[in-house]
Amino acid sequence: MDPILNIAGLTMDFGGIRALDHLDLRVQQGEIVALIGPNGAGKTTFFNCLTGIYTPTSGDLLLTPPGQNTRRLNGLKPNKVTRQGLARTFQNIRLFPNMTVLENVMIGRHCRSRAKVLGAIFRNRKTVQEEKEIVALSLSILEKIGLADMHAEFAKNLPYGAQRRLEIARALATEPLILLLDEPAAGMNPQETLELDELITVIRDDGLSILLIEHDMKLVMSLSDHIFVMDYGKKIAEGNPEEIRNNPEVIKAYLGEDIDDA
Ligand SMILES: Nc1ncnc2c1ncn2[C@@H]1O[C@H](COP(=O)(O)OP(=O)(O)OP(=O)(O)O)[C@@H](O)[C@H]1O
Ligand SMILES: [Mg+2]
Repeated sequence: MDPILNIAGLTMDFGGIRALDHLDLRVQQGEIVALIGPNGAGKTTFFNCLTGIYTPTSGDLLLTPPGQNTRRLNGLKPNKVTRQGLARTFQNIRLFPNMTVLENVMIGRHCRSRAKVLGAIFRNRKTVQEEKEIVALSLSILEKIGLADMHAEFAKNLPYGAQRRLEIARALATEPLILLLDEPAAGMNPQETLELDELITVIRDDGLSILLIEHDMKLVMSLSDHIFVMDYGKKIAEGNPEEIRNNPEVIKAYLGEDIDDA
């Protein structure tokens, strides 16, 4: 079976800096795949290329939704990439702090709603119906994420870990095939990280594929079906958690950090 995501020879230059250097990476449907590597390795740049924020210098970004034809994502604008089924969270939280938890999730959903500007202004019956459906769907996602009780709170009033979960809820509201998480555990305490581990497992069990950038090795080793390791824009290793833990190249790249403790 074709992988749901197939990245081939992806290269991204910023002036003289080659941030991604012929990167190859695959995600199979339903897998949790981790992308790890030291600071500055190019992980976020990879997400930015994949989601249309940057146009890659060369290479292919290929998406094959189950049972459908392969499509090339190169050059699509971010909103088009979202419609193709990729949703992401950001390394730094990007919520609307003065909107409610529910509204933050509804914004994710609007990328798929059909009501156009005129409908929104005149609020015809179709628009009102659609809005009701968006509220219902957003509440059901908040239920799953464990934030339904807080739906009327301003986003800025949530504890840090809950804000990170809310970002995941907003991404889920776009009904993605693949969820891209950029360091979701950053800044979380051990309890919040444990809850995140459970949440990501639940999302995968719902049938999504997940691509996870993360520095927390314990989380990476516990969740991942497959791990890619990058350094200086290049893939230096790939394999299952056991293989990665024992790979000399990886140990060298992480010199000074305790990958063994995970
Ligand atoms: N817009 C840009 N212009 C110029 N250089 C950039 C740009 N974006 C990223 N880079 C460079 O590309 C390299 C990779 O950065 P990137 O943010 O992708 O690393 P990362 O693996 O996500 O690191 P971290 O773990 O610290 O988040 C760095 O050298 C960075 O300075
Ligand atoms: Mg990064």
